[in-house]
Amino acid sequence: MAATGSAVGLGNIWKFPYIVGENGGGAFVLLYLLCIAVVGLPVLMAETLLGKNGRSNPVDAMLKASRQSDVSRLWTGIGIMGALAGVMILSFYSVVGAWILNYIMQAAEGHFTGKSSVEMVAIFSQLRGGQSQQLLWHSVFLLFAVAIVAAGIIRGVGRAVSTMMPMLALLLLVLLGYSYIEGEFSQALRFVFAADFSKLSGTSVMMALGHAMFTLSVGMGAIMAYGAYMPEKASITKTSLIIVLFDTLISIVAALVVFSLVFANGLEPGQGPGLMFVSLPMAFGHMPGGVLFATLFFVLVGIAALSSAISLLEPSVAWLDKHTPVGRVGATCIIGLLAWLGGLACIYIDNVFDYLDFIASNIMLPLGALLIAIFVGWKLKRKVAKTQLGDLNYYQFNLWYAVLRVFTPMGILAIFIYGIWDALPW
Ligand code: PHE
Repeated sequence: MAATGSAVGLGNIWKFPYIVGENGGGAFVLLYLLCIAVVGLPVLMAETLLGKNGRSNPVDAMLKASRQSDVSRLWTGIGIMGALAGVMILSFYSVVGAWILNYIMQAAEGHFTGKSSVEMVAIFSQLRGGQSQQLLWHSVFLLFAVAIVAAGIIRGVGRAVSTMMPMLALLLLVLLGYSYIEGEFSQALRFVFAADFSKLSGTSVMMALGHAMFTLSVGMGAIMAYGAYMPEKASITKTSLIIVLFDTLISIVAALVVFSLVFANGLEPGQGPGLMFVSLPMAFGHMPGGVLFATLFFVLVGIAALSSAISLLEPSVAWLDKHTPVGRVGATCIIGLLAWLGGLACIYIDNVFDYLDFIASNIMLPLGALLIAIFVGWKLKRKVAKTQLGDLNYYQFNLWYAVLRVFTPMGILAIFIYGIWDALPW
């Protein structure tokens, strides 16, 4: 449940609907599902098995795996880069968390009622331009995350996710019912499932692949860190399939909810990041029960964001706790402070937000995932992988192994090459 909490986050409810909107709907959804199958799931399984095999934080888990396989200790770099990427992602993730918390208050106070699109754009730009509100809610968001992680894996993370995840599912169902009754549900269904391949471009492929990794939280050690605490008997394959299933289901339901409300108000789906912060609140503001349901919606997003934020802390906290005398509480406070400073930079300095997002999501996560696929596919002793995936039969294991060794690295390399090609001035 903790790993599902990590996977289900802003990526599902904020990013997924808007990138589907920007890339024309159904065809992009199909492409995304393909990327989940070829890259997301195989790497999710590989990363989990490294964690469960290592029974420690990502740096030490990688150290153990490289010793077991007699390969260079440099492979621990995967763990170090992951822990750093976690703090970087948390820095801007928490700023978006801040917008969400602010929106919960604004929704509950009825500020979105009857707003025109110009007024709604003004509300959002005022929030992004003004520093004090962002600073306040960024600090509150991180404080929640730090409190949960500092309380420990069972008493903190475990207890938090076992209340938050059922709540998230319930809220999403309520909103699905609302959008079915009040929204243009069939138009949303058509948009999300009707495939028009002419709308896809090279950039769509890159976005689908990058998002497949981001949404499953793979490539930066969060899943490895959680894998370390997995019960010995739990099946890695079954757990990974459940995570992928829930993550995908929640993304699709979120997209249906968002688009039915957006369409019901005659708004455009392809508006980019503003979809959830401008169009959606405006849609709620013109619908019956809008104050209540808009508030519930932003509470839902807040829960999803918080259960992901705690997993961004775990790799570096677990490492610091083990290697210094500061203890788990001290370690969480130190890492939390670093992420707080990172968020401060995002709030006060132009472009830092975009740079951090770009470097972490488009470079560090894919690089981490690529190295994990190469390490588990080509360097780790096959026996280690085989033992960890003990419940797979001969064909199942070899299918996973072949995909991880060949198709996953090829897919990820393609993103890099395309990304560089695209950045060159021709
Ligand atoms: N998977 C999270 C989301 O979809 C983001 C995340 C990435 C969380 C990497 C942890 C690690 O929002």
